Amino acid sequence: MRSEAPTITLRLQFRISLPFLAMFIVKVKSNPPPHRKAWRSTAFGIYGYLNFTKSGFLEHSKNFKPEDMSTRIDGKNCIVTGANSGIGYAAAEGLASRGANVYMVCRNKERGEAALSKIISTTGNQNVHLEVCDISCINDVKSFASRFKAKDVPVHVLVNNAGALENKRVTTSEGYEMNFAVNVLGTYGLTELMLPLLEKSQPDARVITVSSGGMYTAPLNTDLQSECDEFVVMQFKDGEFNGVEQYARNKRVQIALTEKWAEKYGNKGIGFYAMHPGWAETPGVTNSLPAFSKSMEGKLRTSEEGADTVIWLALQPKQNLVSGAFYFDRAETTKHLPFLGTKNSHIAIDSIIATLDSLGNFSM
Ligand SMILES: NC(=O)c1ccc[n+]([C@@H]2O[C@H](COP(=O)([O-])OP(=O)(O)OC[C@H]3O[C@@H](n4cnc5c(N)ncnc54)[C@H](OP(=O)(O)O)[C@@H]3O)[C@@H](O)[C@H]2O)c1
Repeated sequence: MRSEAPTITLRLQFRISLPFLAMFIVKVKSNPPPHRKAWRSTAFGIYGYLNFTKSGFLEHSKNFKPEDMSTRIDGKNCIVTGANSGIGYAAAEGLASRGANVYMVCRNKERGEAALSKIISTTGNQNVHLEVCDISCINDVKSFASRFKAKDVPVHVLVNNAGALENKRVTTSEGYEMNFAVNVLGTYGLTELMLPLLEKSQPDARVITVSSGGMYTAPLNTDLQSECDEFVVMQFKDGEFNGVEQYARNKRVQIALTEKWAEKYGNKGIGFYAMHPGWAETPGVTNSLPAFSKSMEGKLRTSEEGADTVIWLALQPKQNLVSGAFYFDRAETTKHLPFLGTKNSHIAIDSIIATLDSLGNFSM
């Protein structure tokens, strides 16, 4: 016969509201555990150190064909955003030196004028123009687009280069998180608004978006403005705004947008390419990433080396390029590093585009 041992039943009760639970699940899904983030950053750091530095450029340039860069593009209309400094300046100068009509889109008139006169004097090309426009401001982007449309000229090349890495959560006068406003919303809006002018130069039209290898650390995320709600900030220190992560997310959006544009507008004779310039010593890197910039002293690329693939993409015969692809050092490269868990995230792009359309109302 079995003796009956006395038992105690413990019942724990949690009361949690459904909206609270839903918010928790969404946030945990979009903020991966710290160890996954650390692994992504480490893998990216090693890969970057081996490939994105000056020595990576020198190594990859052994496969470059010098004749690729000797093509002239006289009379072609090229728009370069963020053209007064760094990679954008070098790209504008490189295109102007090959005969293009270059439209430099800069947010600051004085800095733009200084860069414009420098490019005219170094290249001897008088067909270089300044367009003042703040890409972070939807109204500015729209008014630049309608001013430019009034010129009624075809656009052969649009280089979406203007970019920001703001470490603090700053909002624009229109109320958008600054990194998102420049890197995603303004860039998306300008491209959409330029489509009719790009179509005019088909089949040769192309859009080149200067993304970043930093996007390897970020899956596509629908939390476009890193709106850390108080719950997450309270519960996870990780929920606080992180400019570098926000930048990486923005740059991932650019990769997925490029893929989508290629799919949507493949029949319009426009090619869409995203690229990574490598790690170049520019005012942007010095100001936004001072510790990185200092630790990499002497190892970073020049702005010209950073702009090399932008110019190459503008000059290559289109049949040699893959629309929707990601390029680095004059070759198509992977959009995902192995084991970083970013691969399946691109399915979110349709809902991101719907958000951008509703925020910007870009159909003009
Ligand atoms: N350098 C690198 O290692 C690296 C690596 C990966 C990707 N990138 C990408 O390369 C691009 C160029 O960056 P960079 O390194 O050459 O930095 P940069 O020297 O700071 O150049 C950025 C350019 O964008 C302009 N810009 C910023 N916000 C703008 C706005 N709201 N409206 C119009 N123009 C704006 C800046 O104008 P102001 O002079 O007025 O600020 C500047 O001309 C960026 O998209 C960046 O994300 C750079």
